[in-house]
Amino acid sequence: MKRVGMDVCRQGEGARIQIMKMEAYETEVEELLGQLTLEEKIGMIHGAGLFRTEAVERLSIPPLFMSDGPMGVRAEFADNEWRNTGTTDDFVSYLPCNSAVASTWNRELAGKEGEVLGEEARGRGKDVILAPGINIKRSPYCGRNFEYMSEDPYLISELVVPMVEGIQKSDVAACVKHFAANSQETERLWVDTIVSERALQEIYFPGFKAAVEKGGTYSLMGAYNLLNGEHCCTSRKLLNKVLREAWGFDGMIVSDWGGVHDTVLAAESALDIEMDTTYDFDKHHMADALLEKVRAGEIAESLVDEKVRNILRMMFRLKMIGGKKNERKSGTYNSRENQDAVLKIARESMILLKNENGVLPLDAKKTKKIAVIGQNAASIHSNGGGSAEIKALYEITPLMGIKKMLGGNVKVCYAPGYDIPGKKETGDVNWQADSTTKNWDEAPEDTEVKGAPTENAVKYRAEAVALAKECDTVIYVGGLTHDFDSEGYDRTELTLPYGQDALIEELLAVNSNTIVVIYAGSPVAMPWKERAKAILFSYYAGMEGGTAIAETLFGKVNPSGKLAETFIADGGQCPAHTIGTFAEKERVEYREGVMVGYRHYDTVNENVAFCFGHGLSYSRFEYKYMSVTPARAQTAHGESDGVSSGGQRDVETDGVQTALELPLYEVAVTVKNTGDRAGKEVVQVYVAPKTSAQGRPCHELRAFEKVEIEPGCEKTVKFVLCGRAFSYYDEGQHEFVIEKGAYDIEIGSSSRDIRLRQGVTVFA
Ligand code: BGC
Repeated sequence: MKRVGMDVCRQGEGARIQIMKMEAYETEVEELLGQLTLEEKIGMIHGAGLFRTEAVERLSIPPLFMSDGPMGVRAEFADNEWRNTGTTDDFVSYLPCNSAVASTWNRELAGKEGEVLGEEARGRGKDVILAPGINIKRSPYCGRNFEYMSEDPYLISELVVPMVEGIQKSDVAACVKHFAANSQETERLWVDTIVSERALQEIYFPGFKAAVEKGGTYSLMGAYNLLNGEHCCTSRKLLNKVLREAWGFDGMIVSDWGGVHDTVLAAESALDIEMDTTYDFDKHHMADALLEKVRAGEIAESLVDEKVRNILRMMFRLKMIGGKKNERKSGTYNSRENQDAVLKIARESMILLKNENGVLPLDAKKTKKIAVIGQNAASIHSNGGGSAEIKALYEITPLMGIKKMLGGNVKVCYAPGYDIPGKKETGDVNWQADSTTKNWDEAPEDTEVKGAPTENAVKYRAEAVALAKECDTVIYVGGLTHDFDSEGYDRTELTLPYGQDALIEELLAVNSNTIVVIYAGSPVAMPWKERAKAILFSYYAGMEGGTAIAETLFGKVNPSGKLAETFIADGGQCPAHTIGTFAEKERVEYREGVMVGYRHYDTVNENVAFCFGHGLSYSRFEYKYMSVTPARAQTAHGESDGVSSGGQRDVETDGVQTALELPLYEVAVTVKNTGDRAGKEVVQVYVAPKTSAQGRPCHELRAFEKVEIEPGCEKTVKFVLCGRAFSYYDEGQHEFVIEKGAYDIEIGSSSRDIRLRQGVTVFA
């Protein structure tokens, strides 16, 4: 038996929390603070430009320059107008959206995404990059889901940490957003989000907590919405109690743009900087109004000091001020290395949903004439979506990717297939100026679905079908655009727009070799999925997305992406809508509690289209030799039988090691690649309570590892499961509690493809 490569050991959920030992700049901070006038301090705590604060030149304190966003560094804006400056020096690398990054299930690549983002932000002269967005995908209808990672808090926590670290390597602050429970766009500034303490602790907080405690993020952004009656950006419960007191966060908290509504609340909360979408900067709540209240003795100056302290501390960390100023790293943008990194991430984000009879990969040598059909084959997406829009240096479309892959030897014929009435050619930036005043509720109407097809639609469809009949292979590339995946509103249906379903059915009928590629930012209904032999799903995958799609279709890349969210069955409903409420204007109730995504579907055994963790490979993987052994305490440090710790970082604690962080079991499994090409598999570990008095999900992801295995070879993957993997949040005790009893430890290739399981009994 061939064994190549090192075995891997991964510490799963419950890896002891790193209590950040932040560098001590306190003396310097106090010295500077003591020299600042009240007016100067006020200038530092609110926007003095759309994306900057005021400098204090006399003390060499620069402005703080911030920029969106998660898919690259946004174009340059005029200081006091929602207008791109229109220069040619702000084109940047366009990165895969967070949903794509999460689909890689690859910590290293999440780190790479962060590195590119941080380096380019620094290269563009920014101090804070307003990313990553990590809100929970509570419903597939949320318009901003493409900016977020997953429905699973553990997966998010594992990916956000390297991403934040990657960004901050360049002396740029990550700004993890939007804290918290910002999982819908409808009435986003005013909707009151009602969430139980348990759901917050188990589902909505862990990603942010990991970013703070393990990732050491220098900053965080508050959410627009209210949470249990308080505006998140000025919530004492959320910012003071949770973030500062419970998690010990001493970095900078910025509001979402226009998320502050009251001067006193803002002053008394742990918010540090108020940003807004309006240009009258002195009218911000933490500007003149606050100055007057402090002067009148209505608000203590010490509250302002606390904010400035946090900002100065972050500036020291970023080497913007202080003795290390000359050591601040310089960045760059549009480097070849960054373009390569972006391609690497895109490749691993490709999710092969279906591949009957091994129709994929296609063999270029056996193909003479290919029809590429569908507007998404030829569309650019980088310039849309809201604040995540990017002025990309370039964007390879799937059509270009396919053509450059086939190198002129195969005839590639393109047909749009469907019509997009009133298709916008460029992003409209002015939406943001109105975004805090106007009602952004309604997603655009899909005229094709609602009414009669347009003249163009009829023509395009007929042309596409005729072409499909002539070609030996059809690659359909459809999906969504940022008219649907967008900030400001939620989707109203999962049906593909512009009559795509009917077109796909027709193509499948005339040419059974039709491969369907869906390029989108969120799940879509696939009523034709039984008839399509192969379905490839790609989230907006950045400037090299088209290259990665082509390479996957033609087998240069062996797909290894896995769904980080459930694709619900056609006509199916999600618990956010059926148990809780979603997209209401005044109040949404998260009554489904912790039963989000697969936690719900798998517990009630509901039919889904494609389950959480699903994604096929051109290789096959066999799982064998599962073993579970009680852990020895020393394995908490990630060393086990001389085996690599799989990148587990050294963990510092404040000396208090709770049972939650103590290793309980070592789990091992051997995975063999029985296919004929090298491939990557994501080995997933779920913990399933057999009986629970606590209304827990039937199983939860508690560890995973992505391993690359050569054909015919195998690897043993080891995991350490700590007490936390067996815990739930007890609202009576206000803490996580390990529940005694019988559990199954499940190992599988997706949440519904469990290959091996073993029972254990936990004595808490
Ligand atoms: C978005 C934030 C973004 C900010 C600045 C807001 O509309 O919600 O995510 O960072 O604008 O553009």
